[in-house]
Amino acid sequence: MIVVGVDIVEKEPSVSTILLNFENKFDPFHALSTPLYQTATFKQPSATENGPYDYTRSGNPTRDVLESLLAKLDKADRAFCFTSGMAALAAVAHLVGTGEEIVAGDDMYGGSDRLLSQVIPKTGVVVKRINTSDLDEVASTIGPWTKLLWLESPTNPRQQISDIRVRHVN
Ligand SMILES: Cc1ncc(COP(=O)(O)O)c(C=O)c1O
Repeated sequence: MIVVGVDIVEKEPSVSTILLNFENKFDPFHALSTPLYQTATFKQPSATENGPYDYTRSGNPTRDVLESLLAKLDKADRAFCFTSGMAALAAVAHLVGTGEEIVAGDDMYGGSDRLLSQVIPKTGVVVKRINTSDLDEVASTIGPWTKLLWLESPTNPRQQISDIRVRHVN
């Protein structure tokens, strides 16, 4: 008898493997491609019971698949998709409350620049604009009231790079 020892090394699945193996929990027909639910509203089980989806703006099965895949790829708990970049940025900015701070880059997309200079300060949020490619400046600007660090890399139009390192906390 020949006994062969095999070391099983657990490898991280590749991006393509992750993308192919999504859980299609909501689709009773197990379609291999994600069905597109192009509807604004969903019929409810009865006048007093709620189904898993009612109105597409608050929830849609196709969007749920996209969000769960994006979260998986980023090893995050959740991901949220929006119909435009500015809608996503406005939603994130509104997580910061009156008296709290946003530390933001000084060179960024015009829409974000206007949101941070003309709209957000009206809500009582303090916005500090700095050069985020200078790590000492970032470190010395972040304080106890900083709730959001907002940067683009490379920046537009100056093409500056910020040294971003993501640390996953389990
Ligand atoms: C860096 C950056 N942020 C935000 C936006 C805004 O995205 P949207 O046009 O989808 O609102 C853009 C658009 O070009 C962008 O380049």
